Amino acid sequence: MKTETEFRQDIIEIGKRVYNKGFVASNDGNISVRISDDEVLATPTGRSKGFLTTDQLVKVKITGEKLEGYLEPSSEIAFHLRVYRLRPDVRAVVHAHPPVCTAYAVAGIPLDKPVLPEAVVTLGCIPIARYGTPGTEELVEAIQEIIPRCDAILLENHGALSVGPDVFAAYYKMETMEHFAHITWIATTLGKVNLIEGENLQKLFELRRRFGLGEKPLCDVCTVPLERRAQPEETIHEPIQTDDEIADIVARVTTKVLEALNG
Ligand code: 13P
Repeated sequence: MKTETEFRQDIIEIGKRVYNKGFVASNDGNISVRISDDEVLATPTGRSKGFLTTDQLVKVKITGEKLEGYLEPSSEIAFHLRVYRLRPDVRAVVHAHPPVCTAYAVAGIPLDKPVLPEAVVTLGCIPIARYGTPGTEELVEAIQEIIPRCDAILLENHGALSVGPDVFAAYYKMETMEHFAHITWIATTLGKVNLIEGENLQKLFELRRRFGLGEKPLCDVCTVPLERRAQPEETIHEPIQTDDEIADIVARVTTKVLEALNG
């Protein structure tokens, strides 16, 4: 078990990484770590995550009361605490606004297609939590609907959230999510996104099981209505008809041609 000093240093390190990677601008984003059953260390509100010092972090009870710190905790502390209460396996939460992920969240397109092995194995699928005003109970409720089943989620018209057993694991999920979003975006602009399917997909689920990550279905939890993501999905390369349907179309066309030829 790490000491509180080490937990503080870890948060400062991850703050630098999210800022230097461009996953946040200005004072955006927040990070927290559950340091014991009833204590959480969180970033302070309104400070750049790239330049924090360990003394600026705020300690709060899992029930929300401030325990220690001369600054106020993140305005999003309520959703961090809700995640810890819903997911005892989670010991760290990272919230950021990585540009490509956030663009998907703005476009209403979940990252729920099996496209890259790393993303399927480490993240499962990445749904979108419905929009909630930052810093309010609306956002807490939107997140709580999804977080029991996912470690990485998009926040509609806002950003992204990732969780893990420590703050490095949570941060790496944010990195993987942004990388996955970036590649998906480029492939989509190239005009073709081939999916990992059938036996190959089953093998990735098997890896998830072997790594103790569960076998999460790809994706039955997206809250964004299908019609709002119909357009981007048109570019995804999937069979439009089954073999039987194609045979039926060929038979019907053949009949019409023969009818025309026979007058
Ligand atoms: P805080 O500075 O209060 O953590 O807020 C930043 C943010 O990104 C809100 O969503």
